[in-house]
Amino acid sequence: MTYNSTTKKFLNPNLTTLQPYVPGEQTQENIFIKLNTNENPFGPSPNVLKTIKEFLNLSGQSLRLYPEPESDSLRNALAKRYSCKKENIFVGNGSDEVLSLCFLAFFANRGLLSFPKLTYSFYPSIANLFNIPYERFPLNENFELDLNKIPSEANSVIFPNPNALTGIILKRKTIEETLQKNYQKLFIIDEAYADFSDQSCVGLVNKYDNLLITQTFSKSRGLAGLRIGFSFGNEKLIEALTSVKNSFNSYPVDKIASIAATSALENDEWYKDKIKQIKTNKNFLSGELQNLGFRVLPSSANFILITHNDYSGLELKNTLMRDKILVRHFEHQDISNWIRVTIGTLDECTSVLDCLKKKIA
Ligand SMILES: Cc1ncc(COP(=O)(O)O)c(C=O)c1O
Repeated sequence: MTYNSTTKKFLNPNLTTLQPYVPGEQTQENIFIKLNTNENPFGPSPNVLKTIKEFLNLSGQSLRLYPEPESDSLRNALAKRYSCKKENIFVGNGSDEVLSLCFLAFFANRGLLSFPKLTYSFYPSIANLFNIPYERFPLNENFELDLNKIPSEANSVIFPNPNALTGIILKRKTIEETLQKNYQKLFIIDEAYADFSDQSCVGLVNKYDNLLITQTFSKSRGLAGLRIGFSFGNEKLIEALTSVKNSFNSYPVDKIASIAATSALENDEWYKDKIKQIKTNKNFLSGELQNLGFRVLPSSANFILITHNDYSGLELKNTLMRDKILVRHFEHQDISNWIRVTIGTLDECTSVLDCLKKKIA
């Protein structure tokens, strides 16, 4: 963004070079098959919808009052579900907000931050906003994270597991070894997609003082529209995060979001079944695309990153767009020939396949 000198003199100087994160397109038209922002094709469970409807049928009195400032009811429900204490949990308005508050609480004014070269592109935007110096660490030739490449001077590290963009997961054992070796660095592991994999590092937060985990209700629990994210960490880190939150917005989670998320936690079996269906659809789509000559990275998330030798990423994206299928193409030079496809219903995956088959035939 460029500003003229009149405006510039009123701005935080960081804004003159800020490149805000650009989210995938949110179309209001239902004519698209929307596979560009890793939303869940099944949405929330019927019980969650019932809870919301019952709440809305109550008198407006319940909306007259502020919600719980520390989201205690939801934190208690999360503590029960994840077998930890409420004091180990922080809740915010989507994990993007939780991440932003973490950057402010743990990365700002603490020297060098490091994150992978290819990853969630929100991280550099927040770092720039808060003036946090950062250095990216490279991935290996198979697009896997190599934690040995984290710069020794970094005081803090953040990466998603599975990694956003690629879907590739790092083993918990590798992460634990890194936490032990680098006990003086603070690590945040962004587990937005962990429910689609078979592992999580949540169980490690009481063992390692240098670890925080963030998760979200947007992906595996189909509630992207309600904006609920959460974080696990030792009590002292959570206290620090809470004090930053209270200096910024005392009530980040509204009442509807809070009761819906609590209700979602009571429907684990329903969500597990939907996750299973998403994995089945992912295996189907990945296998068929490989038969068509695509390279598909091994994903432990609800999306796949794919490429074809004969077509550019932009060409593939535009081909799908003509059939009203939205996917994500990134300009980053290392993946400009790739597109990321969110795993939808079986019908949606079949539409992707049919469209690409037509192109390749
Ligand atoms: C790696 C990663 N972290 C966090 C988020 C943000 O999730 P939320 O909807 O909870 O803000 C996303 C969203 O796409 C993501 O890909």
